[in-house]
Amino acid sequence: MIGGCDTLKLAQEFGTPLYVFDEFTLRTRCAEFKTEFGRRYDPVTVLYASKAFINRALALILEEEGMGLDVVSAGEMGIARAAGFPMERVFLHGNNKSAGELEMALELGIGRIVVDNFHEMSLLSDMARQKGKTPAILLRLSPGVDPHTHRYNTTGIIDSKFGFSLFAWEEAVTRAMKDPNLDLAGLHFHLGSLIFEVEPYREAIGVVLKFAEEMKRKHGFEMAELDTGGGFAVRYTVEDPVVPLSDYADVITSAVSGLCRELGLFLPRLIIEPGRAIVGQAGMALYRVGVVKDIPNVRRYVSVDGGMGDNIRHALYGAKHEAVVAGKAAEPNAGKVTIAGKYCESGDILITDIDLPPTCAGDVLAVADCGAYCLPMASNYNAAFKPAVVLVRDGQARLIRRRETLEDLTRYDV
Ligand code: LLP
Repeated sequence: MIGGCDTLKLAQEFGTPLYVFDEFTLRTRCAEFKTEFGRRYDPVTVLYASKAFINRALALILEEEGMGLDVVSAGEMGIARAAGFPMERVFLHGNNKSAGELEMALELGIGRIVVDNFHEMSLLSDMARQKGKTPAILLRLSPGVDPHTHRYNTTGIIDSKFGFSLFAWEEAVTRAMKDPNLDLAGLHFHLGSLIFEVEPYREAIGVVLKFAEEMKRKHGFEMAELDTGGGFAVRYTVEDPVVPLSDYADVITSAVSGLCRELGLFLPRLIIEPGRAIVGQAGMALYRVGVVKDIPNVRRYVSVDGGMGDNIRHALYGAKHEAVVAGKAAEPNAGKVTIAGKYCESGDILITDIDLPPTCAGDVLAVADCGAYCLPMASNYNAAFKPAVVLVRDGQARLIRRRETLEDLTRYDV
């Protein structure tokens, strides 16, 4: 069951692969972020990192929950706009924003542009002058702190394509302060994603606040806003450590308030950008089992009707998930199997070595914690149709994205 709905019935009614989002979990996670940080620090802004998964229905829920949005492209900005999301609550990120994207952000009156590099700063400044606007910006700093996550998901170390590297920080601040076309509101960093430790946040906050103090002393810089990014982990397997949200909130808020007091800085507005931790656990993927192939003494492959096309995370990062066979969750396990997809690649594996009850063609496999970074990274590899998405609540299921069709796949051909 998810959201009061029977997963077997959902699979029957909407087909598989199917992504199911539990509205209650989504809303609860938004509220938890706001209260856990909000009761320790004031003011706090919580932005949802829409790259984890966004569509119009989700944007409406986030808007109702009083969240802001982090977007990284014209597409994500456009979806927010199409959902009527208040643009002043949207922040634009990106290490290589195009002139078109910056122009769109200015036209839409986006809340903050998080400037990543000098090229972007000049481009934005010229554009703002021409349009007679003064966009509020944050500067993205790469603080040289390793959060010990998968290297593809590590962004705040020295060797990173993201943000101003340490040697450029002072020039970034002084140039932005002097630029009459830009309104420098504060600083931003994002260490990476799926961070199971809290110390890297404390370390990075220390580095950035000491720099802010130095800039205040030398150049009169006042940091009104500090954005410490996202990265909050979710537990994908029972082996994953438990890091309560309150631990992240404790460390981040106490580091900011403690150090600001120590360094004589005004308390900035604190901004955080959770993506995975909002949607990850709210989403479940349902697949129909087809072929079961036994290679004696080697492996039993259970193949499902989706795979790397809708969830490339195992192939890309060695990501792990728990799963159950719908309707058989209480049955005893019959040994380890490997869940394979239907794509033409040997790397198309969803789960390696999971204990399941006897599983056969026609069963529905429910894979947990698929809400984040599965659908947005989905592809049409092998000309597969991207899955349908439903939102469930109190026993009701609503289709919020229909399954792709052959017409969808051919409509762009000219
Ligand atoms: N802020 C910025 C600037 C980001 O780049 C990201 C994620 C977030 C916030 C949200 O991070 P989260 O709270 O979701 O960890 N595809 C990878 C994850 C890539 C994350 C990219 N940036 C995966 O499937 O694990």
